[in-house]
Amino acid sequence: MTRILSGIQSSGECHLGNYFGALRQHVEMQDKGQGIYFIADYHSMTTVRNAEERRASVRDIALDYLACGLDPERAILYRQSDLPEVCELAWILGTVASMGLLERSHAYKDKLAQGGSADFGLFAYPVLMAADILIFNPQWVPVGRDQKQHIEMARDMAGSFNHVYGEEVFVLPEPHILESVQIIPGTDGGKMSKSTGNTIRMFWPQKQIRKAVMSIVTDSQAVDEPKATDSAVFQLWSLFADPEAKKAMFERAEAGGLGYGELKKDLLQRLLAYFEPMRERRAELEKRPDYVEDVLAEGALRAREIASVTLTAARRAAGLGAGG
Ligand code: TRP
Repeated sequence: MTRILSGIQSSGECHLGNYFGALRQHVEMQDKGQGIYFIADYHSMTTVRNAEERRASVRDIALDYLACGLDPERAILYRQSDLPEVCELAWILGTVASMGLLERSHAYKDKLAQGGSADFGLFAYPVLMAADILIFNPQWVPVGRDQKQHIEMARDMAGSFNHVYGEEVFVLPEPHILESVQIIPGTDGGKMSKSTGNTIRMFWPQKQIRKAVMSIVTDSQAVDEPKATDSAVFQLWSLFADPEAKKAMFERAEAGGLGYGELKKDLLQRLLAYFEPMRERRAELEKRPDYVEDVLAEGALRAREIASVTLTAARRAAGLGAGG
């Protein structure tokens, strides 16, 4: 069965960008193979420096996954730090990752360019990510375009290890870039991202969603003037419209006579209706914190079964431990 692996970093709340960019695809893919999804709390340590915040974020993301349809009977959902074996593999891979490769990392270079002082964790981020992936030898790693470099780095480390120790321990991972996923714009028109505060979270109280939707930037065309349909508000609206509705709305926009107020109200209605069943399910799950913990614990057990095979092979190939 095709093994599908992906992770989502636990720093802050999941928003529409995460949902349409990752979560929804992860849930859809659980029918196409063995989905293995994890909440990357080790990775979040490069940005989140508060224990309670990290714990809460993991719990929230687990709830989001379950509310949005992840079926723990089929897919595996686990918390990264429940599988500390990835840290061992990260060490092993770090010994075959060249400095030059790691220095080319966009995330690291961007941090330096912003004048930030990077720590070793950020520098080693791609190595831990390579371990996350390679420990399962997955056929598919669905990620957004921004993660492509990380997958290439994982391929590089896999190839180096295999070459150095003369054994095909790791399968070179293929990025499964979600081309169909466009960049989801935030309320200010830029890419929706926690760091810029332009997000809309699907499970906020309705009033807060309403406020965010009404604040989406638009140009100042009057109601009867034609509108450009490539702006943030149209892109967000389109996420919730079928092709027919979209065609009709865009024709009205181009002809003039459609006001942004009307469009935003329609977007709000569609957004709330789309997420309503998931919101209800989430409210139910929130009352059962033990269930959520059980899902994560069970997920870690199942993940470990798969991961230990690869880790044992890597240890043996490298001459670590007594086995040989
Ligand atoms: N770096 C990814 C992100 O920020 C999260 C992640 C960590 C990941 N490890 C992974 C994604 C392994 C795919 C596979 O989105």
